[in-house]
Amino acid sequence: MLQSSDHDSLQSAAERLRAASVADLLTQDPTRVDQLKIEAASLELDASKQLIDENLLNVFARAAHNAGLTEAYEQLITGAEVNVTEQRPALHTLLRGTASETLPDAYQDVSDTLMRMQAVTDAVHSGRQIGATGKPFTDVINIGIGGSDLGPRMVCRALKHTSAKLNTHFISNVDPHDLDVVVQDLNPETTLLVVCSKTFTTEETLTNAQRARAWLIAGGVTESTIGQHVLAVTTNLSAAAEFGIDEAACFPMWDWVGGRYSVWSAIGLVIALGFGWQAFSSLLEGARTLDEHTRRAEPTDNLPMMMALLELWNTRYLGTDTHVVLPYSQRLEYLADFLQQLTMESNGKRVTLEGEAITEVTAPVLWGSAGTIGQHSYYQLLHQGNRRFSADIILPLTNGDVDLDAHRKLAANALAQSRAFLIGRSAEESRALAKSKGLAADLAPHFEMPGNHPHSTIVMHAVTPETVGALIAAFEHKTFFLSVLMGLNAFDQWGVELGKVIGRQVRTTLEHGTGLDQLDASTAALARAWRNANHAS
Ligand code: F6P
Repeated sequence: MLQSSDHDSLQSAAERLRAASVADLLTQDPTRVDQLKIEAASLELDASKQLIDENLLNVFARAAHNAGLTEAYEQLITGAEVNVTEQRPALHTLLRGTASETLPDAYQDVSDTLMRMQAVTDAVHSGRQIGATGKPFTDVINIGIGGSDLGPRMVCRALKHTSAKLNTHFISNVDPHDLDVVVQDLNPETTLLVVCSKTFTTEETLTNAQRARAWLIAGGVTESTIGQHVLAVTTNLSAAAEFGIDEAACFPMWDWVGGRYSVWSAIGLVIALGFGWQAFSSLLEGARTLDEHTRRAEPTDNLPMMMALLELWNTRYLGTDTHVVLPYSQRLEYLADFLQQLTMESNGKRVTLEGEAITEVTAPVLWGSAGTIGQHSYYQLLHQGNRRFSADIILPLTNGDVDLDAHRKLAANALAQSRAFLIGRSAEESRALAKSKGLAADLAPHFEMPGNHPHSTIVMHAVTPETVGALIAAFEHKTFFLSVLMGLNAFDQWGVELGKVIGRQVRTTLEHGTGLDQLDASTAALARAWRNANHAS
């Protein structure tokens, strides 16, 4: 946890730097860009537009050391029980082979599962495993929600430009419309389902799996051959068996993998089925390389550690309350959705590991979308609103074999926005602009923008399985380091459980009209309205 002496140093640094201009710091020190650049795996972090200086970097280094970030990471990857409320480790790093020598038995299970995943992937791609009516598979649907959906969905979207082996689809919401739209153009005879649920108790996933099953059967797959079309991934093999999924079609995961950290497990099977075993292996390799960097690098040369320190600095000391992620790549259009679960489900907490109240803010609200779409909507607030935010701009330098002119325009927008966040528009420039438009001088403030918005740019050569793997791992470790600095448990999610419990109660009310008196007046009125609309009295 952040030590109080380091907290005091950060507070004094904030008093010293709050009024400083990052643009001036860049002008004054020609070495700033090189000094504040960190390379790791296939990524490069440019932190030169953050409101930091050399003195603050020393404070960061001391704070990281005193909070024991390096030691905490070592404990994480070697299987310490970091998830205290569920009494388990969080070993997502083991899934990509990191520190496997310290946990040989668990790693044997991981290797065995990877081999089975590769075998089924190869069998489907080679046409040895085919549908019940003798046709090869053309499409795969992943059925899951939260961590059993967002990671694979984001990665499959990122790889869509590479030669797909099967078309990948995702069904997540319990709203029947989600499934109905996905299956409307698919042929059940050539479609494979992967039902992903760590617990195999999640209402949305089980409902969708039942409906998808019915769709297969209505489409010519028989009860006795449906097993050829359904795979499952879960820790709860008995519940999957009860659901009718054959043991041989079930891929295990383990309670030491958190849902939002599970894309590296068999939850990623849809990635392998969609884009080939090599792509999935490269994703793991990209993450493993980033793990190694994280294990060895000193705090201020350590990419995820620096990302965590910057976020702590921005949220707690500079007062930013929202963090926006802006990938300048349509391939990364689901990155912010994925990161919302990763960061807000992990660090959206209000007590320490010991159960003490945390009075400062914890995870910032994270949001964002692929550039340049947001530029024509919410960037107005970023440039001229009076909320304080920090940002990560994600910039792949190349875009494969695409229209270079369009790609250049995309990159120009990314750099322009980064520069606009930095320099804004001064009062003097605004007066000149108002004058050039023939407007009165007192309208000039409408053109002013403060600039000086702290942000980093994460650069990669291209969106590939390796760079996506490294990027996800960087955000995973950033999230973990922040949890250590704030002294909280990043691996449980009791906040989402309350809604599930009440959801079961309300469902009974909606079905039978009972228990209305146990609800508050507002919820009871809404329940009545729903029953009136759906059940003839
Ligand atoms: O409701 C939140 C959650 O528990 C997430 O943490 C998890 O990723 C998701 O539900 C899905 O859970 P499961 O994989 O068990 O279906």
